[in-house]
Amino acid sequence: MDVSGKKALVIGGTSGIGLATSKRLAALGAEVIAISRNPDKAADALEGVTLMQCDVLDRDALDTLFKSCGPFDILVSAATGGSRARGAFLDMDIEGYKASFAKLWGYANVLQLGTPHLSADGTIVLVSGTPARKPNPGQVAIGSVGAAVEALARAVAQEIAPRRLNVVAPGTIDTPMSALTGTEREEAYRRQTANNLIPRAGSADEVAQGILFVIQNDFVTGTTIDVDGGRLLA
Ligand SMILES: NC(=O)c1ccc[n+]([C@@H]2O[C@H](COP(=O)([O-])OP(=O)(O)OC[C@H]3O[C@@H](n4cnc5c(N)ncnc54)[C@H](OP(=O)(O)O)[C@@H]3O)[C@@H](O)[C@H]2O)c1
Repeated sequence: MDVSGKKALVIGGTSGIGLATSKRLAALGAEVIAISRNPDKAADALEGVTLMQCDVLDRDALDTLFKSCGPFDILVSAATGGSRARGAFLDMDIEGYKASFAKLWGYANVLQLGTPHLSADGTIVLVSGTPARKPNPGQVAIGSVGAAVEALARAVAQEIAPRRLNVVAPGTIDTPMSALTGTEREEAYRRQTANNLIPRAGSADEVAQGILFVIQNDFVTGTTIDVDGGRLLA
């Protein structure tokens, strides 16, 4: 797909990986709409990109948004969706574990309500994460959710073909998702990536490059692309 002139919706496109994706798409000449609950935070970072407000967990609002924006050619969702539980599963508050699936419900809403407005040769990209296939201790919630996202995409890709649906799975990426600052932040990334083949946190733009690859390559669908510094082999 030549993205120039194509209409792209990037949900979660106002921060981190989604923001970097919005920038790359806009730089390549796509008409980009970046969507999140509080999109104004990206006003200075995104030139020539339309910002729209929506919570992916609000189905009515999302349906209205898609109807007002469609038809579109590219649909990316990188929205985290809500909170996620961490720690040992056997000690975990079950409500916290269940709440971690907000990301999956958001993606499910995006797929169900967005696909009808996707052009005949359109493409969708979701973002999972390495813990889907290699959870570290304490990552049972994000691992379960990521695995569900990847399974959902493999199944739905078959329903929507020849329109395409892929997942990009990042490893540890330096984005505003981490609230840590200063040396604490550096130390956390160092610790999390020490055994990786490329022992550092990735950048949001490195993940956006993976997202652009699956958007642009017309022969790629139903798959998950890892952008993780070799974490799966570590
Ligand atoms: N960073 C990492 O190390 C890492 C690793 C593996 C996987 N991932 C995955 O990569 C994706 C992007 O993460 P990131 O690091 O770029 O996070 P981020 O910088 O926190 O960005 C998340 C984006 O999602 C939006 N969002 C969150 N909940 C939303 C909702 N309910 N409705 C609409 N928009 C919502 C946020 O904006 P608002 O707050 O304005 O809504 C923001 O634009 C996530 O799915 C995350 O799980 C990240």
